[in-house]
Amino acid sequence: MKKKIAFIICLLVVMYSNAQEINIIPQPTTASFPIKGEFVLSASTVIVANKSEQNSINFLNDYLQKFYGFKLKTAVKATNNFISFTTPVFIRKPDNEEAYTLNINSLSIKIQGNSNAATFYGMQSLLQLLPVTANSKLPITCIFIEDAPRFAYRGMHLDVSRHFFSVDYIKKYIDFIALHKMNTFHWHLTDDQGWRIEIKKYPKLTTVGGFRNGTIIGRYPGTGNDGIYYGGYYTQEQIKEVVKYATERFITVVPEIEMPGHSSAAIAAYPQLSCFPDEATKHPAKCAWSGDSTGKKIQQTWGVFEDVYAPTEYTFNFLQDVLNEVMQLFPSKYIHIGGDECPKESWKRSAFCQQLIKEKGLKDEHELQSYFIQRIEKYLNTKGRQIIGWDEILEGGLAPNATVMSWRGEKGGIDAAQQKHTVIMTPGGWCYFDHAQTQKEDSVTIGGFTSLEKVYSYDPVPKELSEENKKYVLGAQGNVWTEYIGNTSKLEYMIFPRISALSEVLWTPVDKKNEADFKRRMEAQMQRYKLWNINYFGKK
Ligand code: ACM
Repeated sequence: MKKKIAFIICLLVVMYSNAQEINIIPQPTTASFPIKGEFVLSASTVIVANKSEQNSINFLNDYLQKFYGFKLKTAVKATNNFISFTTPVFIRKPDNEEAYTLNINSLSIKIQGNSNAATFYGMQSLLQLLPVTANSKLPITCIFIEDAPRFAYRGMHLDVSRHFFSVDYIKKYIDFIALHKMNTFHWHLTDDQGWRIEIKKYPKLTTVGGFRNGTIIGRYPGTGNDGIYYGGYYTQEQIKEVVKYATERFITVVPEIEMPGHSSAAIAAYPQLSCFPDEATKHPAKCAWSGDSTGKKIQQTWGVFEDVYAPTEYTFNFLQDVLNEVMQLFPSKYIHIGGDECPKESWKRSAFCQQLIKEKGLKDEHELQSYFIQRIEKYLNTKGRQIIGWDEILEGGLAPNATVMSWRGEKGGIDAAQQKHTVIMTPGGWCYFDHAQTQKEDSVTIGGFTSLEKVYSYDPVPKELSEENKKYVLGAQGNVWTEYIGNTSKLEYMIFPRISALSEVLWTPVDKKNEADFKRRMEAQMQRYKLWNINYFGKK
């Protein structure tokens, strides 16, 4: 009898602990355990799915091969030991394209989705049910999950201008996004310190604009200049490869071409883009410079620079040409046109700009910036694209169809939503992953302090918005500016584990969020980080 009781207690403990060991991030909307037991995944498990599921099948098999040393064959049908992917009917109301169910019993794993993207997310949940140590037999708890994301826009950004990252690494970064059920990669391709996208009509953008003669050492203003020729760019073929790679992971790549500010690299390549083509590039006197400092140059330090695009026909033609090539490479609905941190000094000094302000009946240089952005918006709209701009595009009047990316806090997002414009929230205090994540950070960062808990606490829908205006918030994004992120190990240290917190902010219903439970699940997530062989903050 004693033995029997002990056995039952053991069984209950095992069953209970199985239930406790569900460590999916982001937390699914609902998970239940209608039957007890487990499915055992092994090399003899087969996949049953049609061709439309090839992306999910490939991702699953690549993951299994890489981390567990085997992959699965596909079969037309099977009665047991199979994983099926189907998108037969709308499993939830057809208002969420990304909704899926994951149904695991001891004979089968069935993933049903409202779309191929949805089954891909179901497969991501399955990956997180696998044990974190490699084995030829992988037990998975029987479970029923019904899940859908809270927000349609779930983004991660990466600045490749301040520091350049290889195509191979960009693909890895895209995998990190995919592993978190996020769906947008905002690729910041141009800035003062380097132009990183090949444009066939303007080859000097990359041959000249893609390389700088040195970089400041340490935190701004720096203790010197390393004098190292630094740069790189992506060819159009490489960009196509990245976009394809992302598409196979249901990730949209939104390219950012900065204007009218943050344009020193383009101006160094084509000085006519400046209001003052003959003036040498200015740089802060307190920052050490490497090499020739005559004429227009790529910046070697960080910050905001006065030499910006002149709002001339030459510049608009140039930008339209650039955007034509960009649109051929990126099928995304959105093109990000920057719009942040554009000092107005050059426009104030320029007789041409002052005359243009008069001619167009504009009030000031802010309205001139608005005129600039609206012209670009109009052009992109005629090509069927929409613009996203940083929240400065509110100044001087919003372009009619623009989406605002709110970064200087939430105010820009609130203002834009109140004007019935769509909004993506990226406020510095919660979403800037270049900030330190501990008060004791001993590596150089740009400053700020954004802990894991702070990221987790974020709600992208500001309380100030009326019920009616809340719907304009499309989602949020983590921003990764790379002034002080010069290698992939530091990049991973800065994004992990904050990306995991953000994924839950973006996916999980507010009433299902629970910081204590998230932290519990993070312990398993950190084991996965180890499996993925990545660097992260908090590594023991
Ligand atoms: C920004 O951080 N300048 C958008």
